[in-house]
Amino acid sequence: MSYPVTRLRRLRKSAVIRNMVRETEVNRDDLIMPYFVLPGENICNPIKSMPGNFQLSVDLLVKEVQDLVETTGVDKILLFGIPEEKDETGHVACHHDAIVPKAIRALKEAIPNILIVADVCNCEYTTHGHCGTIVDGDVDNDSTVHTLAAQSVTLAKAGADIIAPSDMMDGRVGAIRKALDENGFHATPIMAYSAKYASGFYGPFRDAAESAPKFGNRSTYQMDPANSDEALREVEQDIIEGADMVMVKPALSYMDIIHRVKTTFNMPVVAYNVSGEFSMVKAAAANGWIDEERLIKEILTSLKRAGAEVIITYHAKEFVLSELKKGNRV
Ligand code: PBG
Repeated sequence: MSYPVTRLRRLRKSAVIRNMVRETEVNRDDLIMPYFVLPGENICNPIKSMPGNFQLSVDLLVKEVQDLVETTGVDKILLFGIPEEKDETGHVACHHDAIVPKAIRALKEAIPNILIVADVCNCEYTTHGHCGTIVDGDVDNDSTVHTLAAQSVTLAKAGADIIAPSDMMDGRVGAIRKALDENGFHATPIMAYSAKYASGFYGPFRDAAESAPKFGNRSTYQMDPANSDEALREVEQDIIEGADMVMVKPALSYMDIIHRVKTTFNMPVVAYNVSGEFSMVKAAAANGWIDEERLIKEILTSLKRAGAEVIITYHAKEFVLSELKKGNRV
């Protein structure tokens, strides 16, 4: 049947009809809010390139997450640490008293129901800013996998609910799974940054986490933005090695990847709406060029429509607050 018998505008005629046939709705349960934690007390450093985001000391992080849960009902966070001191291998992150394990313990004590996803990577912890141990001018895969597994066990012991390796080393999911199981954490899921691209969209994050590489770039381990078949191979490897959820990162320029991963594998897919995607919205809004609340909702909805059931986004708190203010279900 075609026009004039078919008129697709019939189902757009009123809000009640549009609400009835809407296919995709973003819900607070879909969202994970990232935070940056650093040592000290009463510290709240604004991150200039990410308006509304801060480097927080543990005491203020606990308050902020309490506020997040109370005002929005968002109960899932992703943690990144900025350590006091860095070293060559990222081993500083493997101590019981490293900044993220400390933060996890404090959060769990104050807010027992919070779900904490711990990012596992070395780039915040190495003097050179690369995601692993440097041998002959490049990140050495297998020794790095070792430190990642050790960091994961430390985070799980501190109480992390989900381990999320973001380094892109080969074999790290399998090694982390094995280390977690050997230490009694067989019930701790792995959310693998499986298709993580070497992206310019991470720029603001590297200011926030103080993790920019001091030489070269991450192209020998993160993926080439031109590739899509390779993303499926990365995802497949991670699934074989034991990933419970797979991630595509960045999100907006990679919705085709989200869709391919979702339709190829029967797995929960996570989209990481990264710092540069966030900051572009903020910059345009500050100039009065776009309707910020509208754009945020459109972005999150389209990521879910593309196939992601979980979205990591710096917009999580403001999105839910704005929906609640409008009286929308979220
Ligand atoms: C660590 C890591 C990065 C991000 C998350 N984990 C940065 C990078 O790979 O350089 C980026 C997140 C963002 O841009 O919001 N490897």
